Amino acid sequence: MARVTTATGTPADSAFLRACRREPVPHTPVWFMRQAGRSLPEYRKIRAGIGMLDSCRRPDLVTEITLQPVRRHGVDAAILFSDIVVPLAAAGIDLDIVAGTGPVVESPVRSAADVARLRPLEPGAVDFVAEAVRMLVAELGATPLIGFAGAPFTLASYLIEGGPSRTYLKTKAMMYGDPDLWHTLCGLLADITLAFLRVQVAAGVSAVQLFDSWAGALSEADYRRYVLPHSAAVLGGLAGAGVPRIHFGVGTAILLSAMGEAGADVVGVDWRTPLDQATGLIGADRAVQGNLDPAVLFAPWPVVQAEAARVLDQGRAAPGHVFNLGHGVLPETDPDVLTRLVSFIHSR
Ligand code: CP3
Repeated sequence: MARVTTATGTPADSAFLRACRREPVPHTPVWFMRQAGRSLPEYRKIRAGIGMLDSCRRPDLVTEITLQPVRRHGVDAAILFSDIVVPLAAAGIDLDIVAGTGPVVESPVRSAADVARLRPLEPGAVDFVAEAVRMLVAELGATPLIGFAGAPFTLASYLIEGGPSRTYLKTKAMMYGDPDLWHTLCGLLADITLAFLRVQVAAGVSAVQLFDSWAGALSEADYRRYVLPHSAAVLGGLAGAGVPRIHFGVGTAILLSAMGEAGADVVGVDWRTPLDQATGLIGADRAVQGNLDPAVLFAPWPVVQAEAARVLDQGRAAPGHVFNLGHGVLPETDPDVLTRLVSFIHSR
């Protein structure tokens, strides 16, 4: 099959990896969190009748879905199509991803006995991910592939709550009420996450992103005490792996400095904090990723363009900038606006 992009060279020379390494770039690289998914008609077509977890377990489907936004938008990086709960299911936890809701865990993890039942991830249990990565690397040529995993706090929140939550009440009840059990659980989750990322790195991904999407629910003091050591264990475990590590969360304005300290090369920033301010908090030794508000894509094009230009200008304060949204592409987004945005970023 023909390669999907006309980019020449190797992933290592790409604008994306150069920006992650804080090297000069020919143009600001751009990709979008959730670029694969429901905003694309070709995605909705190929997923019809196939459950989310089942589709993640089929390397042919994973490859096609991952390539769809690269072909359509000409983004500077692909992100593996999978989900943060895939390694948990592979480690034997009974869960499903329910359309319109998200991950739902059959028996939530709330007691010491529940934690004692958790098993490590055997790398062989995610062979289907390694196979998809190898197929993608062959197809993508010079376009880098980003691997990813969920961070211990965000994974723990799904396991403890049993599904999505607004308050993280049960999660915080364990954190404050039984810190030893909390740390045991997060230690196990850090091991699963690290094993999952190592499989992806061994199979050929060019960078990894650790999603701590819901860490913004915490104060900085609690983040440092209950979460940072576990995320640092994951990121530190990949220190010698030769791939940049991106660390992302939502609502993390006051956590940005700590998230950088956890060992990231690139810190993802949501739309609430301007990138020049963010880089002041994170420091000149880390690149930043972000941070257009995903809702701006629903405004008239001149507004989208002005907001994207502002993000680019503020990103110049950082030693490296990967353009992205402040969170994932919303399913209702017009994909043509994303394509137009990529051309605009590349033209600047
Ligand atoms: O394009 C990409 O970014 C790669 C694919 C990707 C998915 N999930 C596919 C997916 C990535 C990186 C994720 C990570 C993920 N999953 C996170 C962290 C990122 C974030 O958004 O903060 C989280 C919190 C989850 C858990 C999860 N899985 C949620 C909240 C949902 C959405 C529920 C819904 O239906 O609205 C899912 C399901 C999911 N993961 C979908 C996709 C494309 C939608 C399922 C479908 O298409 O039916």
